[in-house]
Amino acid sequence: MKKIGLIVGSLRKESYSLMIAKYLLKELDKNNEVSIIEIKDLPLYNEDIDTKENEPKAYKDFRNKVKNSDAFIIISPEYNRGIPGALKNALDVGSRPYGESAFNNKKCAIITQSPGLIGGFAAASQLRQVLAILNMPTLLLPEVYLSNIYLVFDKEGKISDLKVKKILNDFMSAYINFIK
Ligand code: FNR
Repeated sequence: MKKIGLIVGSLRKESYSLMIAKYLLKELDKNNEVSIIEIKDLPLYNEDIDTKENEPKAYKDFRNKVKNSDAFIIISPEYNRGIPGALKNALDVGSRPYGESAFNNKKCAIITQSPGLIGGFAAASQLRQVLAILNMPTLLLPEVYLSNIYLVFDKEGKISDLKVKKILNDFMSAYINFIK
């Protein structure tokens, strides 16, 4: 039984990344405690407002949720061949104060998606670089880059593509093994 935090790199209400997160939540929650950790209310990281005396409430709440989780899965789109700013901001917020990173030594895995053919590969690679300096051991295989994402879900938001279902189920098995 692990506490797993899902972090979604898109702020869109109809986000495909969020739809994937909800699928993982439903499947993983059978044997674990899984929740989506929101990042949309985090002010842009600024050391001037992040003081010991006046830690912004949004930062504090986010850091507590991160500290309270055993491991993470980040599900994200790619923005301009990189990770979305909101996601990078959340990782920056969680990484401070210096020496007290909420993410330190917590395991992580990555899923990226895209309407294009590369499936967010560049964003995933960039994210691995960030997770390395955050000291977050990250699942190597299977890599999950979901391309043509607009074809994956049916009108009710359920995964209709059986190949993708299998990719995600294999990913979840490897992930659970990894965080044991
Ligand atoms: C994109 N998109 C995109 N896609 C891609 O494969 N590579 C890219 O570099 C970009 N760049 C990019 C920049 C910006 C600012 C936006 C808004 C979008 C498309 C994007 O990845 C796609 O719409 C995702 O499916 C959106 O994910 P959510 O919001 O559905 O989770």
